[in-house]
Amino acid sequence: MPAINPVVDLAADGEIAILSVNYPPVNALSHQVRAGLLDGIRTASTDPAIKAIVLICEGKTFIAGADITEFGKPMQPPGLVEVQDAMEAAPVPVIAAIHGTALGGGFEVALCCHYRVAVASAKCGLPEVNLGLLPGAGGTQRLPRIVGVEQALDMVTSGKHVDGKTALAAGLFDELVPEGTLRASAIAFARKVVAEHRPLKRVRDADDKLAAARGKPEMFDAFRKANAKKFRGFLAPEYNIRAVQAAVDHPFDAGLAIERKLFVELMQGTQSAAQRYVFFAERQVWKIPDVPDDTQTIPIKRVGIIGAGTMGGGIAMNFANIGIPITIVEAKQDALDRGLGVVRKNYERSTKSGRLTMADVDQRMALFTGSLELEALADCDLVIEAVFENLAIKQDVFGKLDRIVKQGAILATNTSALDIDQIATAVARPEAVIGLHFFSPANVMRLVEVVRARHTSKPVIATSLALAKKLGKIAALVGVCPGFVGNRILYARSQQANAMLMEGAMPWDIDKAIYDFGLPMGPFAMSDLAGLDIGWSAERTSSSTIREVLCERNRRGQKTAAGFYDYDEQRNARPSPVTEQIIREFAARSGAPQRTISEAEILERCLYAQINEGAKILEEKIAIRPSDIDIVWINGYGWPVYRGGPMFYADTVGLREVVAKLEGYGAKLGKDFAISPLLRQLAADGKRFGDLK
Ligand SMILES: NC(=O)c1ccc[n+]([C@@H]2O[C@H](COP(=O)([O-])OP(=O)(O)OC[C@H]3O[C@@H](n4cnc5c(N)ncnc54)[C@H](O)[C@@H]3O)[C@@H](O)[C@H]2O)c1
Repeated sequence: MPAINPVVDLAADGEIAILSVNYPPVNALSHQVRAGLLDGIRTASTDPAIKAIVLICEGKTFIAGADITEFGKPMQPPGLVEVQDAMEAAPVPVIAAIHGTALGGGFEVALCCHYRVAVASAKCGLPEVNLGLLPGAGGTQRLPRIVGVEQALDMVTSGKHVDGKTALAAGLFDELVPEGTLRASAIAFARKVVAEHRPLKRVRDADDKLAAARGKPEMFDAFRKANAKKFRGFLAPEYNIRAVQAAVDHPFDAGLAIERKLFVELMQGTQSAAQRYVFFAERQVWKIPDVPDDTQTIPIKRVGIIGAGTMGGGIAMNFANIGIPITIVEAKQDALDRGLGVVRKNYERSTKSGRLTMADVDQRMALFTGSLELEALADCDLVIEAVFENLAIKQDVFGKLDRIVKQGAILATNTSALDIDQIATAVARPEAVIGLHFFSPANVMRLVEVVRARHTSKPVIATSLALAKKLGKIAALVGVCPGFVGNRILYARSQQANAMLMEGAMPWDIDKAIYDFGLPMGPFAMSDLAGLDIGWSAERTSSSTIREVLCERNRRGQKTAAGFYDYDEQRNARPSPVTEQIIREFAARSGAPQRTISEAEILERCLYAQINEGAKILEEKIAIRPSDIDIVWINGYGWPVYRGGPMFYADTVGLREVVAKLEGYGAKLGKDFAISPLLRQLAADGKRFGDLK
């Protein structure tokens, strides 16, 4: 039998045809793969000697999904549906032989085969929801016919991968075969199907699982309600639910048509565009133009951490989780004991959810060595300083480290806003100094801003990025400036939020607008959570800001059950008349005219100020590309991924509109928004941040 094309091959083993795909790296469903599959199925189907067809893939995986580089372009025939129809209608059984990951379109192809065999390590799933889509090639119609409505809803709205054993139990796989024998086992399975005259099992014809759900629309609403928090703001989960509901309510082909219609709507919408953009942004963020992939890295076998406070303990946990030993240095024994106690408690909490066993906890804690002497860090390959946010203290610590820690080690600081170039002046090896800005809680939050200082060497950068990846984090390389990328943009928003308090808005008005836009909380709820007394001192307080007055009245945020808001025992927030009174008094003194501020104005001033700051960050080359800024805001501050990050969002609004609005508010308020020249230029040229690449 002939090779069909360069990526699809057809061979015969006696009466069994073997259709194999070889399109590295993941056998994505490109045009050539689709065309080859269609040809192969047709050729094998019309050969009277062939009694069954095995579909198998070369390389590390079964077809792992659509070729997303083809998204948004006109599709070259044949479409996937045509290929699937040919498989499902084949006159002889078609058997999918699965290894690796059968995902998305790949799994939808497997669902059109009459049987599926897999090695136990194989996984399957429909992760389209993560790109703001739904499985648009019959997945939402065929899946519930096999696993039932509840499991189908769970799979399509979570996008999670199902392991081989679970897939076998659910009927998604018909047989598990030994690792390394897939081809031979699948051929043997095909022979068995032929010998036993097993039927051509077409998933589309199965109805018993759907019959069980018919006339029970309440199960869909119950599912929506149970997941309302997780799905908030996202269109795709709802569309996936509707598509599964269509499988229950309509005959197969009508359901398929509804699935298609819903798919096209999602594909053409901004949410999926944003989610697909983020998918690429997450891959791009690791690429540093002047630090090539083959830059030498420094082996990290032992990590030192200075300060066992909020950040130090959380940062250390990341390393313990991947088996790297940690030496943690504190100023005093009680602080060290307290810090290690918090780490243990955090791990023990994970045993309650079943994520860790007590043995795991002990194993992780055994990786910690505590000390009160910086000398204990002499042999560390990486030291991360997480002491108080004070330049003099940090310089003192770095000066000592310079004399103690071995040459070649990385000396990192977790500072949130201090000038790392200044910290680096304390050492004779500034090339070893870098910022590793973890976010709080550091054992949970995915983002690390890797801060490149003036003299940081390329191996130190490459090692830091590789390490962040190994820790399961996402890292963005940024430059030195007050607040780096994330907090600098946060300050820009806070300025607007605070200004609006003087003009008549209340904290809860502003927070609501930001929450409804899709962020997990607004600026004032966030301040209450972090604590209003960060950087505040009872000795030096002078009642000169709202925040100071709140602290003076012991309203220091959630921890004192009062801050901008009042809190009940369950930490539910309520607007506070005390806060309102304080704000009104400040506003009266400010002389700013009081007015009702619309939600649109709140959003525009907060978000466009962020966008403007982002543009300045790009101008100053503090961030490499707009999408890196978006990665920071999505992963560090909960910017909704379906809006793609502030810079992507700016492009959807239109930069001309952003500039016009900022100018308009500036004129109205008699304020200078100091619009970034880059932003002005792009707007004037009719361009987008996306054009900067
Ligand atoms: N808390 C956050 O949300 C957050 C987020 C990102 C970065 N940061 C930064 O991380 C750093 C630490 O912040 P934190 O919130 O963990 O503070 P923290 O007060 O909770 O912890 C600091 C710890 O450092 C110890 N320490 C102080 N001087 C020391 C010294 N010379 N030697 C050894 N230990 C010493 C203190 O005893 C204390 O336990 C700061 O630079 C801060 O700006 C904080």
